[in-house]
Amino acid sequence: MADVSAFPNLVVFNHPLIQHKLTHIRDFATSYRPFRALLYQIAGLMCYEVTRTFPTRSVPVQTPVELTQGHRLVGTITVVPVLRSGLAMAEGILEMMPEARVGHLGLVRDEHTLKPTVYLKRLPKDLDAGPVVLVDPMLATGGSASAALSILREAGAKDLRMICLVASPEGVQRIKNDHPEVMIYAAALDRQLNDKGYIMPGLGDAGDRMYGTG
Ligand code: URA
Repeated sequence: MADVSAFPNLVVFNHPLIQHKLTHIRDFATSYRPFRALLYQIAGLMCYEVTRTFPTRSVPVQTPVELTQGHRLVGTITVVPVLRSGLAMAEGILEMMPEARVGHLGLVRDEHTLKPTVYLKRLPKDLDAGPVVLVDPMLATGGSASAALSILREAGAKDLRMICLVASPEGVQRIKNDHPEVMIYAAALDRQLNDKGYIMPGLGDAGDRMYGTG
């Protein structure tokens, strides 16, 4: 595994429960149904740290015993999965934050230019209304993630962060260069990319693994 301390823009979850579930996900013998369930569970657990800096405001609350002060989240949260592999992870996040809105981004890499092009973009108009969380399980070259973050920025997002399952050093470096203000949250920082752009050791093609299309 790579050295996390080289990346101030990365938080890696060294939590036993997350690492236990990630190890099941990596296993080539894990089929699509447990794969999706595990991804959903990990995403929910990651929410705890990802939302740590979300702003709250103090509100009065009447308990059955007395009036006291509590806290509510301020602003409207938007979760944006990158199709298709971001979907299962986004579901786990929505379980924890059911009040969040969902935007969708579909990106495909052009065979000739190797640049990501957008085939679907459905985003709320007021992305500046609160935190925006981009969700893409595999941060590999970082090309698609960087393009997605640029799209969200151009669409008005001010408070941006990204959740992935497995990151590569190349991908984290790319986001550090292109979007230095964006914090990345990952369950693992793996060793490197191979010549086909897959993360090593990784888990293979996340979309195929979760939908049984491999
Ligand atoms: N996308 C995947 O699904 N897996 C990788 O290893 C890299 C990109």
